[in-house]
Amino acid sequence: MNPSSHTAHSAAEVEQQGRAIVFATNNSHKLDEIRAILGDRFKVLSLRDIDCHVDIPETANTLEGNAIQKARYIAEHYGYDCFADDTGLEVTALGGEPGVHSARYADGTDHDSEANMQKLLARLKDKDDRRAQFRTVICLARKSDIADYTLFEGIVRGTIAKEKQGSSGFGYDPIFVPEGYDESFAALGDEVKNRISHRARAVAKLADYLKQ
Ligand code: IMP
Repeated sequence: MNPSSHTAHSAAEVEQQGRAIVFATNNSHKLDEIRAILGDRFKVLSLRDIDCHVDIPETANTLEGNAIQKARYIAEHYGYDCFADDTGLEVTALGGEPGVHSARYADGTDHDSEANMQKLLARLKDKDDRRAQFRTVICLARKSDIADYTLFEGIVRGTIAKEKQGSSGFGYDPIFVPEGYDESFAALGDEVKNRISHRARAVAKLADYLKQ
């Protein structure tokens, strides 16, 4: 959909269009999650919904930098208020690595989760300190003032298991055991994870802000 060509037909649609906000993702799980939390107060659009099929630049060396870069890109080039997220697994004994490099930790290949986990387990092989945290940063950028933005952070602390457990979730879920639990995110399952996760916490802060 080209933003300028969209024609509203009813007062309700005009009202909702005014509250249209883009989430800079095409990940349907993330979209469902945020739409469920925000209800019908906002019309949350995906990148596909606004006909954005470009590779949005994500070249910063921090989670904050990448989230800001993505959200601003959409606000500036597509004329929508937009929020974008970036997540990393930060391991204490590795000085915060893989952090912003979490997706391509093993060899630069995006989303090879198995290789990423094996590399992390190997790096921690002889370490007693297995503390880690997942951190999500969400940036909200406004079409009315590209210079202005707001950041929201969600953290879940835990430890890295010695070996993989469970089969649900994605990424590093089989080796991350959240604080207060004895099993990994992948073994605990989606229901528990979605209640306590880094992303859920950051999204809840964004939702509180938007609802104000
Ligand atoms: P993204 O910013 O959400 O794309 O996350 C970047 C990378 O961090 C992903 O490719 C995963 O490797 C990892 N990651 C992000 N969120 C999670 C999670 O909830 N569980 C496990 N790994 C995650």
